[in-house]
Amino acid sequence: MSEPSAAVPFLTVQQHIVEEQKRFPGSSGEFSSLLSGITMATKMIQDKVRRAGLSDILGEHGDINVQGERQQKLDVYSNEVLIHFLGLRDSVGILASEENENPMIVHQGSKDANYAIVFDPLDGSSNIDVNVSVGTTFSILRRPSGVELDDSDAWVLQPGNKQVAAGYVVYGSSTILVYSVGNGVHGFTLDPSLGAYILSHPNMRMPDQGPYYSVNEAYRDTFPPRYGEYIDRLRSGVLGHKYASRYIGSMVADFHRTLLKGGVFLYPPTESNPQGKLRLLYEANPIAFLAEQAGGMAIDGERRVLDIQPTSIHQRTPLVVGSRVELADFERFVCQAETKA
Ligand code: AHG
Ligand code: MN
Ligand code: MN
Repeated sequence: MSEPSAAVPFLTVQQHIVEEQKRFPGSSGEFSSLLSGITMATKMIQDKVRRAGLSDILGEHGDINVQGERQQKLDVYSNEVLIHFLGLRDSVGILASEENENPMIVHQGSKDANYAIVFDPLDGSSNIDVNVSVGTTFSILRRPSGVELDDSDAWVLQPGNKQVAAGYVVYGSSTILVYSVGNGVHGFTLDPSLGAYILSHPNMRMPDQGPYYSVNEAYRDTFPPRYGEYIDRLRSGVLGHKYASRYIGSMVADFHRTLLKGGVFLYPPTESNPQGKLRLLYEANPIAFLAEQAGGMAIDGERRVLDIQPTSIHQRTPLVVGSRVELADFERFVCQAETKA
């Protein structure tokens, strides 16, 4: 059971968001309503994740999703739960999910519908059956002025620098919600005895440098050559210490470690995914928003992820995200070398 401490005030995420949204004149409780949709849905998802082996929720659902990936049962369940709870909020006009080909219009004609939420209901699905951490990501965008509900693409195809909030839940050894509304990054641990997310990581800051790099080295031969040479630099000690490698294969878990410990996470272009594997709207953008809010950086190998103008809802992007020292070195060693080439 959570114990109040002098260091960290005893706050639920709902209480915290009420304080945060005072920064937004006129946001009449919309954020707390949106966030309560996220917290309710992710509590139900984590309950299924925690008991996956005991209920018929493991394994394949049997369908192939729009990504061409075999849907896991927990992908489908998580998606349905998020659509249900977020769809109950009058302030939500559009939902877009990794698991759905097209954006969903939620409140036809509602004048209050001012937000689009884009999400990956279950990130790291390949890890579910082997009891490794998975996550949920979300990104909140405001309706562009003058855009009607039926122009759903215009709501979601906005650059990441337009996000008004973003976050993730990592279902790991504990369940932690991490979010930002542009005023720093804050983490909340789910207390199962209370059924509430309790503030545990106020004002999270990414260390300027870390001990780890994180990349799937199995694909190294098909990375652009400078990426492999950059990894060799990290391993050589030229940045002050010899890096260790950590790779979980769930972006949310790999990023959460990078946020806490520092270092760099990379998903480079590969032969099978020349544009990178990670999806811009609901994987790279929320992560990049949080990274920058915590003092880190996120680029696509050339430019700031948050400045990319999306052209399609499921478009992919390479991602290099992490601490300032590692990212500055990447920009000098890889980006500048490629511009000279
Ligand atoms: P998802 O399960 O939502 O499809 O995402 C999986 C992603 C991401 O979580 C992870 O970083 C990456 O796939 C791992 O890809 P590889 O197995 O190719 O390393
Ligand atoms: Mn994912
Ligand atoms: Mn997913």
